[in-house]
Amino acid sequence: MNECDALFETIACDLIATGYSVLPNALPQVLLDKLSRYVQKMPAADFKKAGIGRDSEHQLNQVIRSDEICWINNDSEAGADWLEWVESLQAFLNRRLFLGLFSSESHFAHYAPGDFYKKHSDAFKGEANRVLSMVMYLNRDWLAEDGGELLIYTEEETQAAIKVTPSFGTAVVFLSEDFPHEVLPAQRDRFSIATWFRVNHSNSKNVDPPA
Ligand code: OGA
Ligand code: MN
Repeated sequence: MNECDALFETIACDLIATGYSVLPNALPQVLLDKLSRYVQKMPAADFKKAGIGRDSEHQLNQVIRSDEICWINNDSEAGADWLEWVESLQAFLNRRLFLGLFSSESHFAHYAPGDFYKKHSDAFKGEANRVLSMVMYLNRDWLAEDGGELLIYTEEETQAAIKVTPSFGTAVVFLSEDFPHEVLPAQRDRFSIATWFRVNHSNSKNVDPPA
C-alpha cells in the first residue's frame, strides 16, 4: 500500500463508520504547495459569484452564499494535478466501497472577508446525483479568530455535529445527501477546493453528462 492508499483507506473506513472524514495533511506537500501558489496568483476576474442560476434564482443565491468560484480544468498544471489526484481517490473508493462513482467536478472557492455559505445540502434524496462531497483547504496559518469554519450537521440534529477549521491541507469528505452544512463568515480571505463525485444516471430518456 503506498502513502496515498493509506490515506484513502482512512477515508473509506471513516465513510463506512460515520459517513464523513476530516483529514489533516491530506494532500502530498508538493501538490498542496502548487495549488496554494496557483490560487493566490489567480486573477480576481477568474472568480465568478457562485450559484448564479436563472434571474429569478439569482437574488436568492446571493442570500445563501456570497463566495466566488472558478471551475478547475486541465488547462493549468495545478488544476491537472488536482484532477489526477481526485481521479485516483475516485478509483480507490470505487474498488474499496463499490460506490460506482462515475465522474467528478471541482472548483476553487474564494471567500472574501465577510463571505459565508448558509446551511445547505449538496444533494437531495432521490436525486442521487452528487454522492460524495470533498473540500480541501488552502489557507496557511489559519487562526481561530479568522472564523470561516465549516459546520457539518447530522440530519436529525440542529446542533452542529462537527466544526472544521479550514487549515492548510485539511480535507473533509462526506456523503452529500446525509450532511447539511454551512460556512461561517470568514474574517480573512479563505481559499478552498470543493469537489463532488457523481454517479451516472443516464437512461434512454435522459443523458447525464459526465461533468
Ligand atoms: C460548498 C461548500 C464548504 C467549505 O461549496 O458546497 O459547502 O468549507 N463548501 O468551503
Ligand atoms: Mn456544500
